[in-house]
Amino acid sequence: MRTLMGQDIAHAASLLTAGQLVAIPTETVYGLAGNALDGRAVAEIFSVKNRPSFNPLIVHGHSAAQLAPYVKTWPTMAQTLADAFWPGPLTLLLSKTDLIPDLVTAGNERVAIRVPNHPFTLSLLRQLAFPVAAPSANPFNYISPTSAQHVHQQLAGKLPYILDGGPTQVGLESTIVGWEAGQLLVYRVGGLSLEDIASVAGTPTLANQPTSSPSTSGMLKRHYSPHTRIHLSHVADWPMHSHGKIATLTFQSPPAYPAERHFLLSPAGDLAEAAQHLFALLREIDALGFDLILAEPVPDMGLGRAINDRLRRASA
Ligand code: TXA
Ligand code: MG
Repeated sequence: MRTLMGQDIAHAASLLTAGQLVAIPTETVYGLAGNALDGRAVAEIFSVKNRPSFNPLIVHGHSAAQLAPYVKTWPTMAQTLADAFWPGPLTLLLSKTDLIPDLVTAGNERVAIRVPNHPFTLSLLRQLAFPVAAPSANPFNYISPTSAQHVHQQLAGKLPYILDGGPTQVGLESTIVGWEAGQLLVYRVGGLSLEDIASVAGTPTLANQPTSSPSTSGMLKRHYSPHTRIHLSHVADWPMHSHGKIATLTFQSPPAYPAERHFLLSPAGDLAEAAQHLFALLREIDALGFDLILAEPVPDMGLGRAINDRLRRASA
């Protein structure tokens, strides 16, 4: 199959309507989209990604109103969060109705829903008669794509079209929240900070950390990984002598360490900028054939929490 890249929203809409897959830009990362109500399209998503079917997919719509028929109950707090942050990098886990195929949720009783914030994709979603299921458009276990080129490098030949909306603005996957016994839980830290959530919904609790065996959230400990080995700790705890070709990855300034190259996430010391560049930088380093990446956590606040989470998973 030939994979074209472009900005033709009408073409993307007609492919999706015909049951085919299209990679779509969002503010977080690119998604691999298919009709969420069409079991065959959903099965094709799992197969293109090489993703195990126990790992469920997020359903994307253009508005909370469009998504309403797919959830049974809409708690007041969900409405408050949706009003405050949609379109945006927030995913809500809510009880699903029968309209959502079980394959989408991997048999879970809840479905993950979100309204992404990208003008092309919002326009596309408004042209469709259905919401789309979309995981990040990377092969299972690799870093999420933050540009159309990233998608093309890894999935060319496996889907007909990539809607090119430029590099993504946020750069980290959405924050996933849900409720258990009335308590607000965060299942994945991401592009919306806990501080932002707390400002409208009170301080949320972090759900149990992911394990190597898939649990209710379907999230895995080792994930988002480049091929190059990563060691993550404070510079003072880095190994004194490392053999081979070493790269360092730090937040704002280069460390005093004898490495072949130093990579910085944000020379200006801006966590949002660091988040925006993280995945592209990891891909770049991965392509340069280093033996080891020595990485230091960024300040653990705001988007820094999600950056550290991704670095931890990449180094697991
Ligand atoms: O920013 C994002 O969320 C991107 C863009 C494309 O929207 N999507 C994304 O999808 O990161 P994915 O599939 O790579 O990650 C979604 C995560 C998975 O860890 C999955 O286990 C969890 O959401 N998830 C999805 N549906 C779920 C459900 N019904 N119950 C529990 N966890 C769910
Ligand atoms: Mg993913």
